[in-house]
Amino acid sequence: MSHPNSSSRSSTIKAVIFDLDGVLVDTARYHDQAWEELATGFGYALTEADRHALKGRSRADSLEYILEQAGWEDADPAQKSRWLQAKNARYLELVEGLTPHDAAEGAQDLLVQLREAGIKLALGSASQNATKVLSKIGMEGAFDSVVDGTRTTRSKPDPQVFEMAASDLGLDPKDCLVIEDAPAGIQAALAGGFRTIGLGDPVVLAQAHRVVASLKELSLDQGHVLFEI
Ligand code: BG6
Ligand code: MG
Repeated sequence: MSHPNSSSRSSTIKAVIFDLDGVLVDTARYHDQAWEELATGFGYALTEADRHALKGRSRADSLEYILEQAGWEDADPAQKSRWLQAKNARYLELVEGLTPHDAAEGAQDLLVQLREAGIKLALGSASQNATKVLSKIGMEGAFDSVVDGTRTTRSKPDPQVFEMAASDLGLDPKDCLVIEDAPAGIQAALAGGFRTIGLGDPVVLAQAHRVVASLKELSLDQGHVLFEI
């Protein structure tokens, strides 16, 4: 069945833009854990829906979201800043021990295969810790463009992060494929006119052109599936 946004399917993908947390490495759970611990401190228990809503959003937007859910949106800016620092300190503790073995299954192979096929590679992440995490998992030199939370001013679902990556590569969004685990990331990519693959739950990521459970499914060795969305 064709996707409502699949009119551009005839052209070949020239680049793949990867989200980081939850796509190339399973750090989404560490963000969850650090937010959960912080929210518990306000007496608020994050729900499953909150966890999906938080994915892909910047640190500051995530805190605002949680405070709104908890009814604490009037907290003073100095306190918010302390919470942001505390969350990040906890997150950094949790990712400290990451090694290249923690890269997502199939990620390294896929990067190599895409590179060999002449496809450009980019990272499009909201995280300000992206280069640190990339270096821990041995992917620091893997991308032609790295756009992260240190460069963007607007958080997913705004398409800015992916638009910057396409612009770095000198490509039109319709020639780029975005791989994302977050509903906000899929929305961002669709808003920018990119093709999308969701990684994870097909119900949660129903807006994506295609959803897979693992990067292993995207191996070029298995045919040209990556391009047929
Ligand atoms: C995204 C994560 O990649 O980065 C979000 O999906 C996270 O959960 C965001 O909030 C910002 O990350 P950081 O590392 O700058 O706090
Ligand atoms: Mg993600």
